[in-house]
Amino acid sequence: MEENMAGWDLQPDSALYSLYRYWAHGGPGMIITGNVMIDRTAMTGPGGVVMEPDTSLIAFEKWAKVMKSGGAKALMQLNHPGRQMPSQFGRTALAPSAIALKLGRYSKKFARPVAMSCEQIHRVTHQFAMAAKRAKDAGFDGVQIHAAHGYLLSQFLSPLSNQREDEWGGSLQNRARFLINVVCQVRALCGNDFIVSVKLNSADFQRGGFSDDDAVEVVSKLSKLNVDFIELSGGNYESPAMQGTGDMSSALKPEAYFMAFAARIAQHSDVPVMTTGGITQLKTAEQVLEAGYDFVGIASALAFTPDLVKKWQQNPDYAGVKPHCDWQDKTLASLVKMAKVRRQLRRLGNDFTTMHNPTALWSLFLDVIHKRKMMKLYRAYCVEQTSTEKQETHSEQPEKATRYVSSHVVSGVPSRDL
Ligand SMILES: Cc1cc2nc3c(=O)[nH]c(=O)nc-3n(C[C@H](O)[C@H](O)[C@H](O)COP(=O)(O)O)c2cc1C
Repeated sequence: MEENMAGWDLQPDSALYSLYRYWAHGGPGMIITGNVMIDRTAMTGPGGVVMEPDTSLIAFEKWAKVMKSGGAKALMQLNHPGRQMPSQFGRTALAPSAIALKLGRYSKKFARPVAMSCEQIHRVTHQFAMAAKRAKDAGFDGVQIHAAHGYLLSQFLSPLSNQREDEWGGSLQNRARFLINVVCQVRALCGNDFIVSVKLNSADFQRGGFSDDDAVEVVSKLSKLNVDFIELSGGNYESPAMQGTGDMSSALKPEAYFMAFAARIAQHSDVPVMTTGGITQLKTAEQVLEAGYDFVGIASALAFTPDLVKKWQQNPDYAGVKPHCDWQDKTLASLVKMAKVRRQLRRLGNDFTTMHNPTALWSLFLDVIHKRKMMKLYRAYCVEQTSTEKQETHSEQPEKATRYVSSHVVSGVPSRDL
């Protein structure tokens, strides 16, 4: 889950270490980070962690160490938001086509997109591969490429957001080219002793969008690329099925949102498959495994009960908690649920206990305040980096490591808590 809790320099710091320490010792077999951005100019939200080619690895090494401290594997999820970037960043969004998000009165909250050039597509492919290599260098066991939930790679897969007429649009073969190239470059740069996973939508749940038939075909393509496992989810900002609002007709709804829907994909996949969505109970997790899945993913429930897996080991009937909001406005209700979860993540990051029934309005209010604070930090950091980069172009290029140290000293910002 995206935590929106990065330090002032867009890197993990003590709050993220605390949060992941709770999870590391809560009994999971594998921990996947919230999405880490591969470019600081393309953010899913304020407070996001960024991994660029010259980012210092010290904070990431510590993060990986904390995540693995309970014996779990540590994966970094890598993402590019494409058109799903909030407009408050004041930047133009990259997308397959210049088609803005359709969210009614909330549409203006997102940046206007421009269609990417082939050169930009190749550049972003390289950024994914470099970020994966750096994750490996920092001690992560693997990466997960985010190609679900309507972000850039998922936008390329959907015929609704991708209306290109070149080799990157039209047929599924073309729409999947970007994702396939990213996976190939990541594997080529990171080697075989590194976990490479893809998070993919089982469908967008939008008429004319990425369908379950498309998903079966993409899974088959990925299975030929030495991908270690595929996580099946669904939906995007226009149709937030990942929060259980789509028409998934899961036999276990409101638990395991995608289980029945994606079972056909799981059964036809040569690659191990994981599904995430709505799981709070051990019996549901077991049914998911019986249905042919290899892994069970849990997100929100672990924000409320970080040691849920351990609790199941002690009491198989223990039921986890997930956020609830029955407001009529589906977009607002979805924001409230996210805000409730993020509130728990921040509490854990500050070593406070979690709340089982946080109020909607207060959670939303705190979320807005927190994001404003994070946005200010983001802007300050970008301004500082730009001026440092300008100074460097007027003098001899220093070593990368020296550059980071000096920028901290110049700004007078206290060094991070390591
Ligand atoms: C606050 C929050 C942040 C999330 N951030 C991410 C993310 O960074 N990457 C991702 O793949 N999914 C993200 N998700 C989606 C979850 O991983 C998951 O697919 C979804 O919440 C359904 O699972 P759950 O019912 O167990 O929460 C996020 C969900 C929440 C609530």
